[in-house]
Amino acid sequence: MNKTPNTFPVPKAFAAKAHVDQQGYEKLYRESVEDPEGFWARQANEILHWQKPWDKVLSWDFKAPSVRWFEGGVINVSENCLDRHLTARGDKPAIVWEGNEPGETRTVTYRQLHAEVCRMAGLLRHLGVKKGDRVAIYLPMVPEAAAAMLACARIGAIHTVVFAGFSAEALRDRINDCGCSVLITANEGLRGGKRVPLKETCDEALAECPSVRKVLVVRRTDGETAMQAGRDLWLDQALRELPASANSAPEPMGSEDPLFILYTSGSTGKPKGVLHTTAGYLLHVSLTHRMVFDLKEEDVFFCGADVGWVTGHSYVVYGPLSNGATSVMFESIPTYPDAGRYWDVVERHKVSIFYTAPTAIRALAKEGDGWVKKYDRSSLRILGTVGEPINADAWLWYHNIVGEGRCPIVDTWWQTETGGVLISPLPGATATKPGSATKPLFGVQPVIVDDEGKEVLGNGVSGRLCIKFPWPGMMRTVYGDHERFRQTYFAMYPGLYFTGDGCRRDEDGYYWITGRVDDVLNVAGHRLGTAEVESAIVRSGLVAEAAVVGIPHEIKGQGIGAFCVLRDSVSSDASTIKGILHTVREVISPIAAPDAVWFVSGLPKTRSGKIMRRILRKVGEGEYESVGDVTTLADPAVVSEIVETVKSSRAG
Ligand code: PRX
Repeated sequence: MNKTPNTFPVPKAFAAKAHVDQQGYEKLYRESVEDPEGFWARQANEILHWQKPWDKVLSWDFKAPSVRWFEGGVINVSENCLDRHLTARGDKPAIVWEGNEPGETRTVTYRQLHAEVCRMAGLLRHLGVKKGDRVAIYLPMVPEAAAAMLACARIGAIHTVVFAGFSAEALRDRINDCGCSVLITANEGLRGGKRVPLKETCDEALAECPSVRKVLVVRRTDGETAMQAGRDLWLDQALRELPASANSAPEPMGSEDPLFILYTSGSTGKPKGVLHTTAGYLLHVSLTHRMVFDLKEEDVFFCGADVGWVTGHSYVVYGPLSNGATSVMFESIPTYPDAGRYWDVVERHKVSIFYTAPTAIRALAKEGDGWVKKYDRSSLRILGTVGEPINADAWLWYHNIVGEGRCPIVDTWWQTETGGVLISPLPGATATKPGSATKPLFGVQPVIVDDEGKEVLGNGVSGRLCIKFPWPGMMRTVYGDHERFRQTYFAMYPGLYFTGDGCRRDEDGYYWITGRVDDVLNVAGHRLGTAEVESAIVRSGLVAEAAVVGIPHEIKGQGIGAFCVLRDSVSSDASTIKGILHTVREVISPIAAPDAVWFVSGLPKTRSGKIMRRILRKVGEGEYESVGDVTTLADPAVVSEIVETVKSSRAG
């Protein structure tokens, strides 16, 4: 069925100038798994600036679980991202900001960003924020978002960035879960043709967030917003009024002190607060950013992700800035004002490394090559993708059209939990195959296990992807719920970290991530739990019971199909669908709104009442004839009804 995929060799000229070539990769990789502590200690020494060296490189136990890197070390992330660059790179652009309107730009040099972060750090301290306190950030893609993150890091406050597309409820739940004392937001955001009333959403959320004492508001537009006396402050004004003597010194942080919490969806319950710590995370994102993108001093690095997601944390802010690189920060959307926007940004800012998600590539490919070719892309030298499996067609379009066949593609596999990339080609070292994330990075020891948790050895095998040895950037706990951390990642296959992904290792030892094997959806690169979406649907009051599954979607990769059993007397019409979609948008975010809603009279359940998702998945995928064994169902007849409903909704 699978025809042998093409292999794209590393261009010779590229390998000659790269940090690492094929032999270099093999040698370093071997060293990193044979002597992990030696390898990481050397990297930590070479790459980072320490206030005090560590006593012990690593202690770990995947059973507890407990992972600790560089204990005894003292280090500050903001000092590493800013202060240490001032002598050599003070006037180099740290952030090149491209606003919502084409050409609305702002360049922030390392010196300017340092000054801005110091002022903001001073302000946070002035407001009583101390090391270990939590600060929520709900901002659009403006330089202040990066500055706010770095200001928190500077004083040792733990930031939790909430994607500014999330609803008031989602924001409220995240703030309450980790008890933030300060929220940093903007009066409004601008996204394409839309104004997003961020502060209003915050006000709604904060009505039920007793821990928040202060709200700092970035003045992004001239839009009015009600300011609550004693709580809300305009950031620009507060900074102007801050005494010059405010303390902005970098807080001495222990290696394992928390850096940030980022909420992500799991297969059960509410989103969990993934906690990352200081030194290991910084080392991991710094090294991977340098190696995966073969970073050079003169590069202009453009990662299109929002800082509300882990990709924005690691490869818009911390990775690039710790490396003293120029990071392009993009406020708009790829199709505003038209489908040429990314390439317009590439041309104007002379972007040399471009990193985006397959969903964006597919959406832009659909608009035709003309939008790409209209702009000069000769500055580009590397292209990256992240967030979901990339199909060969999209990969080839990216390679041939966007990269004119000359730029290596790095398909980077990783997760919010992993902190940074774990499996990816190195552009000067690894021949690529469209759709494969290829090989593990330094220090990463992937294993594939079968359903029973037995490791499958050799090549040409598939199963579930686990990692058997810690890496510095891995999450340390679920904030406030260590047992959930253990249950989710370490209980399934004792002794291993379970990723939740299915995976194939081909004859050449290349890894192919095939997608989630748990109840997590990946919709346009955004992670959503089925349980989360189902409970939002039920909140509409229209639905007695719902089950959602991933369905194939041309652009998003995976869309959401919702099977709904309506409550008595609710009619199965368009207004009900509208009501359901509206509720999901309000409870979670528009990104969670189902692409298809099917009304059914019952869900396929076992006699013990468990929903057989396997059947629904098959139907959602259009595999009507191969739903598998239905004899264990309490009422097998519901299956044919479900099949008919879905089939007829798709007819024509
Ligand atoms: O299923 C994998 C998919 O995205 C999941 C992680 O999602 P999230 O935590 O939101 O982080 C996304 C950005 C790092 C993974 O479990 N995924 C991520 N990158 C790839 C991928 N699937 C295939 N290929 C990738 N390159």
